[in-house]
Amino acid sequence: MSGTKRITAPAILSRKGKEKIVCLTCYTAPMARLLDKHTDILLVGDSLGMVLYGLSSTHDLSIETMALHAAAVVRGSSRSLVVVDMPFGSYQASKEEAFKSAAYLIRKSGCQAVKLEGGAVMAETIAFLTERGIPVMAHIGLEPQSVHRYGGYIAQGKTAQSQKSLLADSLAVSKAGAFALVLESITEPLARKITEKVAIPTIGIGASPACDGQVLVSDDMLGVFGSDVPRFVKRYAEIDEIVDTAAATFAEEVRSGAFPAKSHCFGIKEKK
Ligand code: KIV
Repeated sequence: MSGTKRITAPAILSRKGKEKIVCLTCYTAPMARLLDKHTDILLVGDSLGMVLYGLSSTHDLSIETMALHAAAVVRGSSRSLVVVDMPFGSYQASKEEAFKSAAYLIRKSGCQAVKLEGGAVMAETIAFLTERGIPVMAHIGLEPQSVHRYGGYIAQGKTAQSQKSLLADSLAVSKAGAFALVLESITEPLARKITEKVAIPTIGIGASPACDGQVLVSDDMLGVFGSDVPRFVKRYAEIDEIVDTAAATFAEEVRSGAFPAKSHCFGIKEKK
C-alpha cells in the first residue's frame, strides 16, 4: 500500500460539518490491515485492557503496553490517522508529565496523535501538548478511566447540571486546541447541542447520529467479545460463532484422526 498518504489531524478537523468521520478501535497489525482501507481514524484505545487482556477496567495498563500495540497498528496501516489513548495515570498529574507520556507514545510507535479523557480540567494540558506539536483528541461524557467517580459505566448528561458542565467541557477542549472530541454515552439532545457549538468534529460512541463521526470498539461490533455489549453497539458480524465452529471442527478431527491428512504432512510421498 505504498504511495498512499495518511490522513492527518488537520484533515480530520477540516471535515467538521462536511463529511462524516469513521473511526474504529484497533490493537493489532493484522486487524489494522483489515480495517485501514475503511476507516479515517484507527484508535488504539485503552479498551484493549478489557478486550484483549480480560481486565475489569482500563486502569491497569502501562504506557509501554500501549506503545507496543500502537506500533503494531502503525505497521499494519498506511491510510488512517492512528490515535493512541494515554493510559490512566500517565497524564493527569501535570501537563509536563502528559507531554513526556505523549512524546514516548509518538516516539515508540510512530502514531500521529494521542487521546486523553477529561474536559475543562484537561484544557491546559491539551493546549500545552498542541502548542508543542502533539495533536490531541479529547474525550468527555462517560470517561471510562473515571468509572469509580460515576459508580459504574453509566450514561452521562441526564441532568441539567451535568449537561451544562459537559457543554462547558466541550467548549474548553475545543478552545484549547483539540482537533476532535469523543463524546461517549450521552443523550442525543446534548450531543446535538455540543456538535453545533464546538468548532471541532465530535465523534460519538453511544452519542447519537448528531455527531460528526462515529467510533465503536471493533471487537464489539464484530462479535468477538461475547454478547454482553452496551446497547449502543450494533453487531455487524458474529465472529464468536465462526471461531466456535472452527475450533469444534478442529477438536473433532484431531480426536477422530481426520486431521492432519496426508496433504498436511512432510515426507510422505504419494505412490505413483
Ligand atoms: O478506549 C477506547 O476504546 C475508547 C473508545 C471507546 C472511544 O476510548
